[in-house]
Amino acid sequence: MLNIEHLEKISLDGIWRFQLLESPTDTSHKGWSKIEVPGLWTMQSESEIFFDKPIYTNVQMPFEQQPPNVPEQNPTGIYERDFKIPTLWSDKRIVLHLGGYESVALIHINGKEVGLTKDSHLAAEFDITPFLERGKNTVRITVVKWSDATFIEDQDHWWHGGISRSVKLYATNNVFIDRLYTTAGLESDNTTGTLKIEAHISSNELNDLHGYTLRARIEELPKVSAANLEKTLVTKVAPNWTELSEKARHAEIEKRKSWDGTVSKATDAILAQVRADVPGKILLESRIPKVALWSAETPNLYTLTFELLSPEGAIMQIGSQKIGFRDVRVVGKDLLVNGKAITIYGVNRHDFNRHTGRVLTRGDMREDLLEMKRWNFNAVRTSHYPNDPLFLDLTDELGFYVIDEANIESHAFYDSMCEDPRYTGAFVERVGRMVQRDIHHPSVILWSLGNESGIGANHRAAAQYARSIDPSRPLHYEGAINGDWRKGVGVTDIICPMYPAIGAVMAYAKSGKQDRPFIMCEYSHAMGNSNGTLAEYWEFIEKTPGMQGGFIWEFWDHGLDQRLPDGTIHAAYGGDFGEKIHDGNFVCDGMVFPDRTAKPAMHEMKALAAPAIITAKSASTGRFEIFNKQFFSDLSAYEILWSITCDGLMLDGGVAKLPSVAPRKKALFAIKSAHLSKAEGEGERFVTFTIHRKASTAWSQTMAQVGFSQIPLTSRAKAKAASKPSDEFDGVINEYAEIQLPFGLVAPVLSLWRAPTDNDRIGHISTRWERWGLRNLTRDECTVTESTNKVTIKCLWKTSTGFAIKHTQVITPIENGFSVSESVVLPKELNDVARVGTNFELSGGLTNVAWFGNGPHESYPDRKIGRIHRWNSTIENQYIPYVRPQENGGHNGVRWFEVTDPTGAGIRIDLAKPYQVSVTPNRAVDLADATHDYQVNTCGNVVVHIDGAHRGVGTASCGPDTLDKYLIATGTHTWQWSVTTLS
Ligand code: GAL
Ligand code: MG
Repeated sequence: MLNIEHLEKISLDGIWRFQLLESPTDTSHKGWSKIEVPGLWTMQSESEIFFDKPIYTNVQMPFEQQPPNVPEQNPTGIYERDFKIPTLWSDKRIVLHLGGYESVALIHINGKEVGLTKDSHLAAEFDITPFLERGKNTVRITVVKWSDATFIEDQDHWWHGGISRSVKLYATNNVFIDRLYTTAGLESDNTTGTLKIEAHISSNELNDLHGYTLRARIEELPKVSAANLEKTLVTKVAPNWTELSEKARHAEIEKRKSWDGTVSKATDAILAQVRADVPGKILLESRIPKVALWSAETPNLYTLTFELLSPEGAIMQIGSQKIGFRDVRVVGKDLLVNGKAITIYGVNRHDFNRHTGRVLTRGDMREDLLEMKRWNFNAVRTSHYPNDPLFLDLTDELGFYVIDEANIESHAFYDSMCEDPRYTGAFVERVGRMVQRDIHHPSVILWSLGNESGIGANHRAAAQYARSIDPSRPLHYEGAINGDWRKGVGVTDIICPMYPAIGAVMAYAKSGKQDRPFIMCEYSHAMGNSNGTLAEYWEFIEKTPGMQGGFIWEFWDHGLDQRLPDGTIHAAYGGDFGEKIHDGNFVCDGMVFPDRTAKPAMHEMKALAAPAIITAKSASTGRFEIFNKQFFSDLSAYEILWSITCDGLMLDGGVAKLPSVAPRKKALFAIKSAHLSKAEGEGERFVTFTIHRKASTAWSQTMAQVGFSQIPLTSRAKAKAASKPSDEFDGVINEYAEIQLPFGLVAPVLSLWRAPTDNDRIGHISTRWERWGLRNLTRDECTVTESTNKVTIKCLWKTSTGFAIKHTQVITPIENGFSVSESVVLPKELNDVARVGTNFELSGGLTNVAWFGNGPHESYPDRKIGRIHRWNSTIENQYIPYVRPQENGGHNGVRWFEVTDPTGAGIRIDLAKPYQVSVTPNRAVDLADATHDYQVNTCGNVVVHIDGAHRGVGTASCGPDTLDKYLIATGTHTWQWSVTTLS
């Protein structure tokens, strides 16, 4: 049974004999090589033996055959090894357990065929007892890459081949627990636990099961009688008609006459005597008072141990499962966990490892989850197949809400497979086996019928099956509501769309037509520099009943480690293994890079999902309000620190004293400081609260910061630098009418373009930029006029496709430098440019950058939650290594910045208003011309952009573009900056 850990087991992981054939019809040859199990043959180093490599496709199939046919060339791996059965196991039933394989596995023991299995991400088990011999035995697992099942495993990730999860043997007695369905729930008082254990006892020798006993107890509650259960099987064989007594026969007849199920009590009692049991089925049920509840915030687990006893009282089997008491139900527009309409800060996760493809250790899975915790995620969708059961043990323990998804995706045949009767069995089996395996996990709150497979009879069958095995959990399936959120009743209990635009979400919430909870199964496509407008989604979700969050697409950038001819390793994506049919870097669309370091967008999510937020009631008198966003915990686990800064320099700080704040409640609190009310000097002042978790956790150290709120205080503006007479202009403008900057290597030019992000490129936004010729601007018709205290440069820029843009720069000398005031008139055709700003280059000897503005991480106009502070970095560290190079390193809301060499010499730029700025080692053209990180040509200079306007990044690679308010309007744009030299 897949959800019982067997004590008597032998791991077969390790080095196996291996050969790879071109097709399952080829005969195996004598030459064996070796492979590690688990191990995918597609991820072994390049050789003649391991000729088959990973292929990446999204929707399209990697071959042209139609279901259920597959190509003749069909890589087939033969895994073989010898093993010995311990003498202690000689009388036992022995089972071979194969954790995961891609995609069909045929099992042979000692040359005899045992069976075949398909469902690549759920274990298969075979009773191999009759095939075993004394002493040495040989197991052969033949894994065939393509099969009829491939058409329902068309998930958007790499196609691999081989054994992906552990292989083991385990032994049981001849009478054993075959199936165990444990459901721990909660009564409506939210304190009384309910426990239901359905066990199926079985025997491989058709032993009489009469007198076998199942005992179950909750280890932590030894004294609670309701937590100590047992029942003994009494097998009854239903008598034949002729064997029935006269009374029983009458009762039978009365029952048959009945049309509404009502028979007299006396009849019912007689029928109960003659009705047989389901062989081997035991049901244990109880109510346990005052249990500690499980939730993602409070993952309280109990240990359920069970024993199977023979009629003589001998222990036949022993085992345990972790359980958690919690209730999940849909009531109207709410998905309730323990009675609360929780918020899902979720992320979709694929199994991925850049070295092994998707062979994962428990440590790998744990690290994924710890990383999610660090960024305040509280939910995972196992997109798009059941994960290793160890994963769910971890989500139970660490506290995550999980959508457990069946291994079904027929994206290329979206509307047909779901109606194809040849696949009905596969649909039902894949959903059904997942439910049976994972039913006891408290973290699983929804079953998902799979992904992107239309909606049809096969789904309805699978839904029915899931509901009857497990009535305790609602169902989730996006295909059922795709295109019409009113559809799918019966198949999905959640309205779980993909990538809806905010406008659509709002309209739906306000329509009065919402009939089920709304949780986006995928949103905010994290491909490259992305996740624009996350804040807008959350602003609406958090204030609107029935809106319960969603799952970002996705956790991982699936860039596989690939060695280049010069020995360096890079992140490979679709096409890099020579595949002819592929979908490029669309496989790199996660919140973490292939090495699991977080992308800058994580900061946005973390801030939005913080456990509390603080707002001002009256900042100048020190009165603030805190809202506890959690559903089950007060805020006593947290400490709030505050600081008051002026232009990023600390004036005062302390620890805020909080009253007790119940879940979902607000409370007032106060801080005291002489600096709150009076703006004693020039500069911008803020009070910043940081929220820290006092205790260490598995994922963080003591006092780890989990959130922040920054509130502006009254400030006194800086006096403008006084202008000076024009005789100080010497050398500021050269003979070509270019501004000469200290440390300048390339003079300031107008810039309307950025290296297209994945969103810009795939969303066809940059196609317009190409059409408009924004990448190459040339300047002509330049006139320079000088007056007593300014120089004016007026020029006309031409795009490479002929659009003309008027540009004016007015230069005024100031103390130790000059200021530049620019204006541009964007013609009405250019109604969606990337930026309007100034671009120049400084000497590469300036290795450091400091700025006062949003930070410390990269930010853009539609993804800009950060703290306004003084930040320091190196130019080198400003580069964000998106797998496919693109615009990066931007900072929103910059007030000033300094670019300096190690001695502090350099240049300072003050901005008239907070602008988008980047100071990076790369030119936009060099980023745009590279398709991989290692190809980026580095110019050696410091590349600076000051943008009077910068376009939002949106999520258009798969989903909505940014909102209109983050687009750049046509017409006049102005921006001003001033330069001083630092020595
Ligand atoms: C969704 C799909 C995911 C992935 C994503 C785009 O439509 O469910 O598997 O393909 O789009 O990255
Ligand atoms: Mg798909």
